[in-house]
Amino acid sequence: MISNPGKISSIIESFGAAGGSLISMLQEIQAEYHYLPRDALVLIAERTGLPLSQVFSTATFYNAFSLTPRGKHLISVCLGTACHVRGGPKITDKIGRELNVEAGATTDDLQFTLETVRCVGCCALAPVVRIDEDTHGHVTQKKVPAILKKYARGDKQDEDTKPQES
Ligand code: FES
Repeated sequence: MISNPGKISSIIESFGAAGGSLISMLQEIQAEYHYLPRDALVLIAERTGLPLSQVFSTATFYNAFSLTPRGKHLISVCLGTACHVRGGPKITDKIGRELNVEAGATTDDLQFTLETVRCVGCCALAPVVRIDEDTHGHVTQKKVPAILKKYARGDKQDEDTKPQES
């Protein structure tokens, strides 16, 4: 069930009936809802005339899209080799305990989705946690609550949470 079908309709209408805009349309809906509600895909098929199977296969082909609800903030804990040996699994556990969520799942309030990923390309900063577009390096269990708190209150401009160079 879409919580705001009018918003979905206006996104679809902003693209006209051009099926070639399907990916852009899906991107906008995902940005709005943090996932692709099934009803939205049905609505796209109805409005654009594209086969529902094509809309679904596009939505499931790309990793960036999710058909299940995701949190406002995506937390990706790196478990590549460097991060793993420097405590990545313990960081994952700590975040999971703080948010009461398991890896691969989303918090009940839809604020955070926690996932584990392989090397994100900045091993010198291991262990690394990415939250949305920000990279946090040399993360310790002790630092976790403060990092999460900044996202929970929507204030992530502190110096130590700015994207770091690898
Ligand atoms: S192993 Fe984590 S950034 Fe490379």
